[in-house]
Amino acid sequence: MARLAAALLLVVAVACWAVAPGAEALGMNWGTQASHPLPPKAVVQVLRDNGIKKVKLFDTDFAAMSALSGTGIEVMAAIPNNMLADLADDAGKAKDWVKRNVKRYDFDGGVTIKYVAVGNEPFLQSYNGTFINITFPALQNIQNALNDAGVGDRIKATVPLNADVYNSPDSHPVPSAGRFRPDISGLMTDIVKFLAKNNAPFTVNIYPFLSLYLSDNFPLDYAFFDGGATPVNDNGVLYTNVFDANFDTLVAALRAVGHGDMPVVVGEVGWPTDGDKHAKVSYAQRFYAGLLRRLAANAGTPARPNQYIEVYLFGLVDEDLKSVAPGNFERHWGILRYDGQPKYPMDLAGQGRNTMLVPAKGIKYLPKTWCALNPNAKDLSKLGANIDYACTFADCTPLGYGSTCNGMDTAGNASYAFNAYYQVQNQKDDACDFQGLALPTETDPSTAACNFTIQIAGAAEVHGRRSAGAAAAGVVLLALLQLLALW
Ligand SMILES: *[C@@H]1O[C@H](CO)[C@@H](O)[C@H](O)[C@H]1NC(C)=O
Ligand SMILES: *[C@@H]1O[C@H](CO)[C@@H](O)[C@H](O)[C@H]1NC(C)=O
Ligand SMILES: *[C@@H]1O[C@H](CO)[C@@H](O)[C@H](O)[C@H]1NC(C)=O
Ligand SMILES: *[C@@H]1O[C@H](CO)[C@@H](O)[C@H](O)[C@H]1NC(C)=O
Repeated sequence: MARLAAALLLVVAVACWAVAPGAEALGMNWGTQASHPLPPKAVVQVLRDNGIKKVKLFDTDFAAMSALSGTGIEVMAAIPNNMLADLADDAGKAKDWVKRNVKRYDFDGGVTIKYVAVGNEPFLQSYNGTFINITFPALQNIQNALNDAGVGDRIKATVPLNADVYNSPDSHPVPSAGRFRPDISGLMTDIVKFLAKNNAPFTVNIYPFLSLYLSDNFPLDYAFFDGGATPVNDNGVLYTNVFDANFDTLVAALRAVGHGDMPVVVGEVGWPTDGDKHAKVSYAQRFYAGLLRRLAANAGTPARPNQYIEVYLFGLVDEDLKSVAPGNFERHWGILRYDGQPKYPMDLAGQGRNTMLVPAKGIKYLPKTWCALNPNAKDLSKLGANIDYACTFADCTPLGYGSTCNGMDTAGNASYAFNAYYQVQNQKDDACDFQGLALPTETDPSTAACNFTIQIAGAAEVHGRRSAGAAAAGVVLLALLQLLALW
C-alpha cells in the first residue's frame, strides 16, 4: 500500500514537473518608447495568450495598469530615474507616490503589484554619477512608505541595476572573486543591507549580447548556452557561458558583504535582432533557446544550482523611439516586432519546440502605401539633408553597418528613410514630399532582408482620444471596485 502511495506520489510529482515550469515563472519587460505603441489591452492579451504571468514596467502608466487590473499578472511597477531626486528629498512625496501608484490599485481585482523598481540602472557609468547620491534615499523612502501603508510585507522596493556595479579583478577574473565596483562599494553595501532587512531581492540586468558588442575579443560561443567556448575554470568549477559567470560574480559580491543568499531577480535579459552585426535573428533564436531551456529546467547556476531564477526577458516589442546612445541595436530588443508579430520560432516553455509565439490580436495597419524616392527627381543635391531630416524623426537604424537594410544604393537608402518618416507621421499627405524628392507608392519596396514597414493605425488616437475615454471608464470602475473593497 505504502509503495502504491509512493508510486502515485511520484506520478503526480512527475506530472506537475512536466507542465513546464518555465512559462509559468517567466517574466517580460513591457517598454513603450515607440512612435506607435501597441494598445495596452492588446499587450495584456498577448502576454496572456503566451502564458506570461509576470511583467515589468518602466513607469506606472494608467492605461497599462488599468489593462493589467484583474488579470492576476504579477507586476513590477517602476519609478523613472528623473523622479528619484524628489523622492529622495522628501519622504512625504514618497508616501504620496505609493498612495497614487500602489495603494490605488491594491485591492481584490486590482493590480497584483509585487515589486516597485526604484529607478532604472541608475548607476550606469554613462550617467556620470547623476543618481549616485539619490537612489538609496529614494529606495528607503519608497520601501518605508510601502511599510507604513501596510503593504511592505507583500510589495518590495528594489533597484534594477546594470551588471557593471560589480566585477572581478583583472588579476583574478573568475566569478568567485566578484566584488562590488570599488567606487560604489560602500553605497552598494548599504543598499544590500537595506534590501536584506526588508526581505527584498537584488535586481540585476544581465546582457551577454553587450559583452560581445563591447569587445571584439569576446568568444562568441561564450555568449550562448550550447558550449563551444573554452570554459572558464574557477577553482575547478567550469563556466561555459557568460550568463552563469555574470550571475555568480554577483553572488560572490553579495557573499562578500555578508548576504550570499540574497534572492536575485534578473530584471532584464535578451538579445536584439537588428542594428549590429551580432544583433540578428539567428543569434537571438539561439540565445533564447538555450536560456529558456535552462530556466524551464530550473538549472540554476554553479553557485546556486538546481533552482528557479526569477527572470524578466527584454523585451516584448521593438521600440522605435529609444535612444540609440548605447548602439543602434537599442530599438530592436523585441521578441515581437513593433506590431506584435513574432520574429522567429521561440518556445517560452523551454521545451525546444519549433513554435511561434502567439501574435498580438486586433492590430490594424495604415493603408499599404509606402513613400519612396521620386524616380523622376532631377536635382539630388538636397538628398542628403532630406535623409538626415527623415532619420532625425524616424528610425533608420536598419540602414547601418551589419543591419538588415545595409548595403542598399543611395536610392534605396533615401526611400527607406522617407518611408520610415512617412509612417511615423501616419502617412500624412505632406510627409512624403521632401522638397519634391519623394512620392507615395503602392509598390512595396521591401527586399528579402529589408522590411519597409507600414505603421500601426490609430496608435496616436489610441493614445490620445480613445485612451482618454477608456481611462475615464477605468477610473470609475477602479473607484467603484475600491469602494466595494473598502466597504
Ligand atoms: C557624461 O560626461 C560626458 C563627458 O564629460 C558627456 O559627454 C556626457 O554627456 C555626460 N552624460 C550625462 C548623462 O551627463
Ligand atoms: C555625491 O555626494 C558626494 C559626497 O557628499 C559629493 O562629493 C558628490 O559631488 C555628490 N555627487 C553628486 C552627483 O551630487
Ligand atoms: C546608406 O546609409 C548607410 C547608413 O547611413 C550608410 O552607411 C551607407 O553608406 C549609405 N549608402 C549609400 C550608397 O549612400
Ligand atoms: C517583414 O514583415 C513581414 C510582415 O509585414 C514579416 O512577415 C517578414 O518576416 C518581415 N521580414 C523581415 C526580413 O523581417
